[in-house]
Amino acid sequence: MSEGIFWLEGHSVHDPRGDLTIYQCSPSEIPFVIKRVYLLHNVPGGSLRGGHAHRTLSQAFISVNGSATITIWDGNSEEVFELNDPTKALVIPNGLWREMGNFANDAKILVLASELYSEADYIRDKFTYSEWLNVKP
Ligand code: TYD
Repeated sequence: MSEGIFWLEGHSVHDPRGDLTIYQCSPSEIPFVIKRVYLLHNVPGGSLRGGHAHRTLSQAFISVNGSATITIWDGNSEEVFELNDPTKALVIPNGLWREMGNFANDAKILVLASELYSEADYIRDKFTYSEWLNVKP
């Protein structure tokens, strides 16, 4: 797995009224302060999303309903993760290329982000990404 990516198991509390799953910001859980939350939903079948890297943004992806895949490229190797379980968050540090696909009709993907939206933080073509990998600190 690329350095810094990990699955975070939420703390689930089960009782007869249903399940409650908790994610907290702390060094051993979500390792950043959440400044922004967004939701991917109503995604038409066959859509591809992502296709970029972030210079500084860290994120956590949680499928709150349905499923989708996220493919991570770190400049050397590629890895595919399936988001399909609301009790697990995939934490992705900055600096990794990602593509998302295979969205189920009912997919709802919640994204927790460490920074406010900034288009300047995106690297949207792979050539620029390769150049950035060579010069980043
Ligand atoms: P983008 O991050 O490229 O989406 P994805 O990675 O899911 O394919 O964002 C799509 C568009 O939405 C783009 O024009 C930027 C805009 N956007 C915002 O205005 N604010 C946000 O917080 C996000 C995530 C996107």
